[in-house]
Amino acid sequence: MSATSTIIIPTTAFYDAWATTYDTDGNVLQHLDSAAFKDITPLLFSVLQKPVRLLDLGCGTGRNTTKLRGLLPPGSTLYAVDGSEGMLAQARASMPGEPSGQVEVKWGLLDFTRQQADLDAFIDSAPVDVVISTLVVEHVMLDQFFAVVARILKVGGWAWVTGMHPDMGQSRAGFRRDDGVKVHGISYIHGLEETIVAAKNAGLKLVGNVKERGVDDEFAVQELGERAEKWVGKRLHVGMLLERVL
Ligand SMILES: C[S@@+](CC[C@H](N)C(=O)[O-])C[C@H]1O[C@@H](n2cnc3c(N)ncnc32)[C@H](O)[C@@H]1O
Repeated sequence: MSATSTIIIPTTAFYDAWATTYDTDGNVLQHLDSAAFKDITPLLFSVLQKPVRLLDLGCGTGRNTTKLRGLLPPGSTLYAVDGSEGMLAQARASMPGEPSGQVEVKWGLLDFTRQQADLDAFIDSAPVDVVISTLVVEHVMLDQFFAVVARILKVGGWAWVTGMHPDMGQSRAGFRRDDGVKVHGISYIHGLEETIVAAKNAGLKLVGNVKERGVDDEFAVQELGERAEKWVGKRLHVGMLLERVL
């Protein structure tokens, strides 16, 4: 296989292979996602005055799970689910133990599109107050993704969903192996309008505006790293806050 080859493999195998370098390979979307997360959390958590139950759907290496643990009120439960054993192993390793009386973290290895009964059991068979799902939706068809989110979220609960901006065109999550081969999982390009419609059809209403982020200029490149260079002037990241209304 030549050094410029690209391969597409099942999403779980893809993330198992990426897991050990996922947090450190200078991925621009992750930087933008962290900035979006920082912006949205004051609003998201302003309503959370008491212990809550939150699900991190597709938690990966626990990039946001760690931050969430520090933000939730004491007595809360943080459920973190992922389909990749490799990603989940990184997440567990990054958060060993937990002082009692603070936030309980529960890890679940499952495919949320195929193992819905297991997901229901994992969240103790009761809808959660908040769902966070960052950079996951690209791997799932929209109707399927939002049907899961709506089913596990209580009426009046909020979901923070982020993903790749459609302005990125044919780009998809991927990493370069040591032998130079570019590896991808299964990805879908979701338009903004179709995403909002799919959420609405599942009973999830957009709260406020869609939040779009990109690489504005060369100054942003300095902040985001050299991999941002080719994206100057483009929007790369989209986030939406949704409320379950039906
Ligand atoms: C780009 S990573 C995002 C991880 C983390 N949320 C973050 O923002 O860094 C996408 C994650 O979604 C998980 N994922 C994708 N489809 C899934 C499914 N159907 N069931 C469970 N996990 C899934 C993958 O295993 C992967 O860890």
